[in-house]
Amino acid sequence: MNESPVGTSIETAAKLLCENKIVAIPTETVYGLAGNACQARVCAGIFEMKNRPHFDPLIIHLNELIKASDYVHFSHPDFQKLYERFSPGPITYVLPKKDSIPDIVTAGLPNVALRFPSHPLCRDLLDKIDFPLAAPSANPFQYISPTRAEHVKNQLNGKVDYILDGGPCRLGLESTIVDLSGEKAVVLRLGSLDIESLHDCLKYEPEIRTSSSQPSAPGQIERHYAPGSQVLLFESDEEITVEANDFVVYFKRHSEKKSSNILYLSEDGELLEAANSLFHLMREVDALRPGRIFIQRAPERGLGRAINDRLKRAAHNPLG
Ligand code: TXA
Ligand code: MG
Repeated sequence: MNESPVGTSIETAAKLLCENKIVAIPTETVYGLAGNACQARVCAGIFEMKNRPHFDPLIIHLNELIKASDYVHFSHPDFQKLYERFSPGPITYVLPKKDSIPDIVTAGLPNVALRFPSHPLCRDLLDKIDFPLAAPSANPFQYISPTRAEHVKNQLNGKVDYILDGGPCRLGLESTIVDLSGEKAVVLRLGSLDIESLHDCLKYEPEIRTSSSQPSAPGQIERHYAPGSQVLLFESDEEITVEANDFVVYFKRHSEKKSSNILYLSEDGELLEAANSLFHLMREVDALRPGRIFIQRAPERGLGRAINDRLKRAAHNPLG
């Protein structure tokens, strides 16, 4: 294959998926690299295309709860209320899996991650097929997640069989992962659904287990979401010394001084907008091959916690 076609045809995407091909799909969080989750060979192809180690399991996607009982056990007492309040949307449930899900999907773990995306094009696509889609974010392993069809094209052109273009992702930051395989809900990845809302629904504070040294979600490794250039983080009250070819990304509008090397995650300092622009902005700056990228940490509340989690991983220097 030379070029990966980009288009908006759900029929084409569905047909290719039924032929065991791999298709990039839009979701409200980030683009996914999707294939039939019940076919071990297809899933192996997804790992290979992403260059992803086999110990890092895949999320499966469905559009209806009624279909989920073929793949998971959802007897956890908190599942129903979380589902009713937040699905479809940016929450992923880790639940005990059934035999219909091949072991390669879960990296041999007894539980599978399941999400019900809200993106209309993605839902229409799921309506047309009768199997769940295994879909990790459609980026090469450890790089920044794609939030636009062109991001996928830039990195997986010639590999993926079709790129379904659903426009820029509405949220732009991955789903929040909640493990419901134990007694109480445990958050394995901070994401687009903030902890405060989860807490409000659960009526208890969920444990957050996102440590990067001993991750419970195997994908929560230290260096992740990382651009090619060196990323350095700074606090809002911190002075930084920059050189001419460095870029500085402030959380919100910082000064009136105009410079093409100074950017903002959100002019008005809004967390939703900042979360939405984070990955796109990191890609754009990275493409300019800057000396270093200085990024200001977000306030540690709401989505700011997920933003700071991604920043910390992007800045992780494996040598230092
Ligand atoms: O928003 C999202 O969740 C996007 C869109 C495409 O749905 N998907 C996504 O997938 O971010 P991925 O593969 O890039 O990240 C999935 C994370 C990984 O960190 C993985 O380790 C964790 O989910 N995960 C998957 N299955 C798991 C399981 N059974 N137990 C614990 N963690 C799991
Ligand atoms: Mg990912």
